[in-house]
Amino acid sequence: MKQKVIISDKSVCIVKGNDSYRDSGNGLIEIKTGVSKALIGFGSRFEFSDELIIKRAKLRVFVHKAGTRQSGRLDVYGVMKDGLLHEFELYKENHHELLWLDAIDIYNNRGNTGWYEVDVTDYISDSHLNKRYIAFKIECETKLKNDSPVYLCGCNSEMNKPELLIEYYKNNDINKPNQCKYKMDPLHGYKLWLDYKTISDKTKISEYRDNIKNIYVDASGDIIDSAVEELKEGLTGLLDSEIKIADKITQGSVVLTNNKEGALLKETFQLMPSLGEEGFTIRTINLNKTKIIVIAALGNKGLLYGAYRFLEFLKCLGDLSKLNISDKPMVKLRMLNHWDNWNGTIERGYAGSSIWNWDDLPEKINPRYRDYVRACASIGINGTVINNVNSQNEFIKTYNLIKVAALADELRKYGIRIFICVPFNCPITLGGINTADPLDERVINWWKRKTREIYDYIPDFGGYVVKGDSESQPGPLQYGRDHSEGANMLANVLNEFGGILIWRAFVYNIKGLDKDRAKQAFQIFKPLDGRFSENVILQVKNGPLDFQVREAVSPIIGGMEKTDVGIELQIAQEYTGQSTHLCWLVPQWKEIFMFDTHMHGANSKVFEIIEGKLGSNRNTLVAGVANTGSDMNWTRHPLSQANWYGFGRLAWNPQLKCEDIADEWVKMTYGTDSDVLITIKTMLMNSWETYESYTSPLGLGYICDRPRHFNPSPETRSNYNGTDLNGLGYDRTKATGSGYVDQYHEHVSKMLDDISTTPEELLLWFHHVNWNYKLKCGRTLIQYMYDSYFLGVEEVEKMIVMWGKMISKIDFQSFKTVHSMLYKQHDEAIVWRNILCRYYFGLSGIKGKQVQNEVFALPEVYIKDLAVKPSQIIENIQVSKLGTIYLLSTERACSGSYEKARRLKLADDGLTGTSARVDRLDIPTKIMAPQNPGKYKLYACDKYGNISLPSDGTVKVLE
Ligand code: GCU
Repeated sequence: MKQKVIISDKSVCIVKGNDSYRDSGNGLIEIKTGVSKALIGFGSRFEFSDELIIKRAKLRVFVHKAGTRQSGRLDVYGVMKDGLLHEFELYKENHHELLWLDAIDIYNNRGNTGWYEVDVTDYISDSHLNKRYIAFKIECETKLKNDSPVYLCGCNSEMNKPELLIEYYKNNDINKPNQCKYKMDPLHGYKLWLDYKTISDKTKISEYRDNIKNIYVDASGDIIDSAVEELKEGLTGLLDSEIKIADKITQGSVVLTNNKEGALLKETFQLMPSLGEEGFTIRTINLNKTKIIVIAALGNKGLLYGAYRFLEFLKCLGDLSKLNISDKPMVKLRMLNHWDNWNGTIERGYAGSSIWNWDDLPEKINPRYRDYVRACASIGINGTVINNVNSQNEFIKTYNLIKVAALADELRKYGIRIFICVPFNCPITLGGINTADPLDERVINWWKRKTREIYDYIPDFGGYVVKGDSESQPGPLQYGRDHSEGANMLANVLNEFGGILIWRAFVYNIKGLDKDRAKQAFQIFKPLDGRFSENVILQVKNGPLDFQVREAVSPIIGGMEKTDVGIELQIAQEYTGQSTHLCWLVPQWKEIFMFDTHMHGANSKVFEIIEGKLGSNRNTLVAGVANTGSDMNWTRHPLSQANWYGFGRLAWNPQLKCEDIADEWVKMTYGTDSDVLITIKTMLMNSWETYESYTSPLGLGYICDRPRHFNPSPETRSNYNGTDLNGLGYDRTKATGSGYVDQYHEHVSKMLDDISTTPEELLLWFHHVNWNYKLKCGRTLIQYMYDSYFLGVEEVEKMIVMWGKMISKIDFQSFKTVHSMLYKQHDEAIVWRNILCRYYFGLSGIKGKQVQNEVFALPEVYIKDLAVKPSQIIENIQVSKLGTIYLLSTERACSGSYEKARRLKLADDGLTGTSARVDRLDIPTKIMAPQNPGKYKLYACDKYGNISLPSDGTVKVLE
């Protein structure tokens, strides 16, 4: 009898029908070259009832031919009360797939594909049984050529109490167990960059302790309370000594002051006015021979930001004797845009569900709100759009406003104002009016009433955000009004309360516009320049399409001289690997900010426009589509936290350097160890271009599937990237193309119109380029493309090696999660590489040297002609590669590409076909015949998306 052990995403292990199992630990083992033996408690501590005694466990290891990885499977045997031996299989929840130990990684192993020689695991010793752990004795011959370690990672579930319960043996000495001592983070990255652990540098901590004794507050107000609390908590943690609030200034006081009448501000900080309400100064000074540290600001928010900056200074081991920081934000509104829905889902969210819990509000204030807002404030974010641009009127329904207000109350404590996305047709859906025409008096009055109501609940409400006439959202065009008329109506209503109207420029597919989508938004908005009210900000995505890995800068930025233009960036990695691929986007954003639009001649860079130094200069805005969710670590991929952090820092000051931001984040999150710093920084810095190189090099753009925007789908995307038999790229030149280049100022337009002066990283964005065109490096386009995809995969492999060295340097959970994500990234990069290279080869007929590589070989599947009954098991199927086999109706055409593989999966609806996994090649595979009578062919799809030709044999399912 087999029982299933289900392993959920959170790695809680439960035995179905016998819920006495919990897996709550971690397992990790290193096996060095040669034969190693180890006793491990995999996933340590499967607690089990007396019902079950584990008798035997077995590990199988599979080696890929390419030799980059081994993965194993754990089979568990136990004796139940009935005295019989039962076999358990570990399954992944939802996936119905066997759980693969993620991963036994043997990096440079060059073994052969197939099941590898691994001894059967042995008995669990009694002593372990007493401890109620399952432990496995494993003998594993790794045949390594070098000394690469092998890691076996278990799972962890107990968020609050993780323990590492591994015993392992080194040097083949099975009698001498060593306790693994990896660092554990009980909160799994929840604290982000705000974990104020005691500073481990002895000299520094004693210097800091000598100079920091207490906090003295010469300021008051809600936000100040937060600043004080933060400072107290942070200093107490970092210095490991209680820092109290003093009632007078003494030697070593950290003084927080915004008292304009007080001596400190007046005498010491002459420069303050230029720092504005949000700026601050931090200095060490001598006040009547008393050495103190002063954090001074004119406004409350400035003090909060100053407090955070001081803590950062200490955490990064700054030199107190040189402490002299003055800073202020360069942009007024620095906002996160949450694409969260009322029901808790998140559009393009990859880290769980919404962190707002509307069911519980206003009664229950989840402590997470405070932690969210602390994290935001610590990087200078001062606005939050709480809901999806594809909006719902729930958020402004009268009976829900009390909930929204309760959330606003929390956010306000840390200086964040909330904004709400509203559907343009609320007067119809909520007001019962038969129109939402922005010039209709009834409509205007309805919005006035609603807006007043909102301000009654939320006095500092920021304003509305609108996505109008885009992707089925209602908008003014439906009523024959243009976007400025729609925006101005709402802006005028908000103006009475000091609110702002943010109007999104993400509009396309409107009748009468050019067929090149990149041109469309400019065509709509440029004629409206100068017509928007003063409290309107036009929020423009950085590129004219949609957050591609690299896009030209939207011509609206630099093109609208009389309109306040804010920029929208995407922190959530919708098109850049979502939550599995490491893709640090700060270098991308930085490149965008540095682009010279020539709005007023040379040096009209994007950041200058966004900072309000050029063009209209009223409200300035940097918005980022958030990557946060309910996952314990907020962003799922631990290193994606750096995108959130980096966004905040750049929104504060777009002129900051990427390297400095990376530096800060690593130190704040993983400490100041120089290996850690160099490794993680290098990985972050290279990751964007790595992702680009195996997905969409040279500005190719849109090439992924719909609706997920994740997998390669070149065949369905040629209208976006202009790919055809002659070559790649979208011709946007004046003479032969769409003329999009004309939307830029003359200097830029000329540069982009000419293939020889177009920056190569955007070549295919602007030009349709022949396969044989020679690039600056001397290679032909086709060869460059092949090389790029292969290089991308290699870069991911390098990251895996680099990351491996972090094992004992950072917390084990982060290590483990990133480690397995890098493997997923690697697998997916290979899929991208293979699909795209084969696609280019199919079009061009030109083989690069790599294309002969066996990775492109289609799998083969063999079955003879058969007649079977519905649902009968068909045995003895021979397949050449691991993956999935499908038995599909002969009408289904399929061979050759990943896109089709997806469809194959979709087709697996139980009516027209069946499928089965192939996870071993040394034994024949089985598949169940479909229920419906008819003729079927067999197909195989390998894990890289290569699909076989249909089998020669046909399976006839009888009536
Ligand atoms: C993208 C994204 C949508 C989103 C839209 C927008 O197209 O895929 O989910 O709604 O952008 O920004 O409005």
